[in-house]
Amino acid sequence: MSLDLIIRGGTVATAADTFRCDIGIANGRIVELSTAISAPATEEYDAQGLLVLPGGIDSHVHLAQPSGEGVEMADDFASGTRSALFGGNTTVMPFCLQEKGQSLRDAVDAYHAKARDNCLTDISFHLIVTDPTPAVLGQELPALIAAGYKSVKVFMTYEAMRLNDAEILATMDAARRAGAVMLVHAENEDVIRYLSDAHVRAGDIHAAAHATTRPIAAEREATHRALSLAEVVDVPVVIVHISNGPTIDEISRARARGQRVTAETCPQYLMLTKDDLSAEGWEGAKYVCSPPPRDRDQQEACWRGLETGAFDLFSSDHCAFRFNDIAGKKRPGGKFTHIPNGIPGVETRMPILFSEGVKKGRIDLNRFVALTATNHAKTYGLYPKKGTIAIGSDADLTIWNPDLTRTIRHCDMHDACDYTPYEGLEISGWPIAVYLRGRLMMKDGVLHGSGADGAYILR
Ligand code: URP
Ligand code: ZN
Ligand code: ZN
Ligand code: ZN
Repeated sequence: MSLDLIIRGGTVATAADTFRCDIGIANGRIVELSTAISAPATEEYDAQGLLVLPGGIDSHVHLAQPSGEGVEMADDFASGTRSALFGGNTTVMPFCLQEKGQSLRDAVDAYHAKARDNCLTDISFHLIVTDPTPAVLGQELPALIAAGYKSVKVFMTYEAMRLNDAEILATMDAARRAGAVMLVHAENEDVIRYLSDAHVRAGDIHAAAHATTRPIAAEREATHRALSLAEVVDVPVVIVHISNGPTIDEISRARARGQRVTAETCPQYLMLTKDDLSAEGWEGAKYVCSPPPRDRDQQEACWRGLETGAFDLFSSDHCAFRFNDIAGKKRPGGKFTHIPNGIPGVETRMPILFSEGVKKGRIDLNRFVALTATNHAKTYGLYPKKGTIAIGSDADLTIWNPDLTRTIRHCDMHDACDYTPYEGLEISGWPIAVYLRGRLMMKDGVLHGSGADGAYILR
């Protein structure tokens, strides 16, 4: 058999094993794994001294969504997937946001139109339901889930998007019947509203108030409630972007009851704290995301969650707004309540976890692969096509130099934002080449693919 590509001599890591072998690729798939492939190949990559990993899967990224504050998101599908690619990813899962009054099918069509011919990675959508009318839950959602859109997200916070408990139950019930997994952004909106009204009345409108008005109790309570609602309906649930230990404890209790729960955390909860939001002037706006970064103790709790297996998923929650668009000078009378929520991070997600986690001995390489690729594929129905290195799997491969050191600088990022929250962070280990279904997409910092290469993956 003649091969299209051989990745030769690398150290291959999956979620289970680490081993030296050659990888043979034909027609976009892995067809041979062996210590010395002898078949001829059109192309070879010498991976000696390098790691060969399943392409990263970032199952939580926001691209080309409108923000409630009327600020345009920095990244569309072209720039967002470009940034993802340079960060070692081959698949990202963006959201398809239903606006109030909009049909869910129209929302899906609209996001497909934005994505078409614009993606440098493969993509697959989650559906966000903000208007769960009888027609949406009775007809549209079941039809879309049956067609391959197998994950549904709801918000418990954000005035324009949140659902009440009855609506969440009804949406969960529809998702369960049709065989989808639910994602929940769990924060108690009434607590947040109560605290932020008080802060605004007292004239405390600095970006730092974003963190104090979204306390751990609001996240912990909403998580408990989301888990309880999912238990009643018996639907598998993903609690996204968990920021603290008490909320992780809610996850553990639900698992002890026998619930199917997947838990996610993100780089911002390991690397940032609420003190970053207190930066001079409007600088703190660069770190405004929900839930907010907490403190050193909660960073440690999140690390423990990654080490012990409490967390299944490590995602970026990439949701980039240009500092130039959110800075106070551009928004006279600006309050923390008007800062759009979200920060960039799709390109730095894997390097940060590798450098801070694997290199510092907190997690091993196989757990790194599970947290950045395999578990995402398993949770959302992409496995084993995606998320592993096995015969028959898509040849989505990231060649990683474990000893390449870099300093994170915004000017080196490939997104369309104008800052990175991790400016100046020293990183050890970086992706140096990425293959998407056997096609070279990036090598040594040079883009090789085009927007026509990324495919939409139905599940
Ligand atoms: O602040 C955040 N996380 N923004 C993105 C939207 C969301 O809540 O996931
Ligand atoms: Zn969220
Ligand atoms: Zn998000
Ligand atoms: Zn506003």
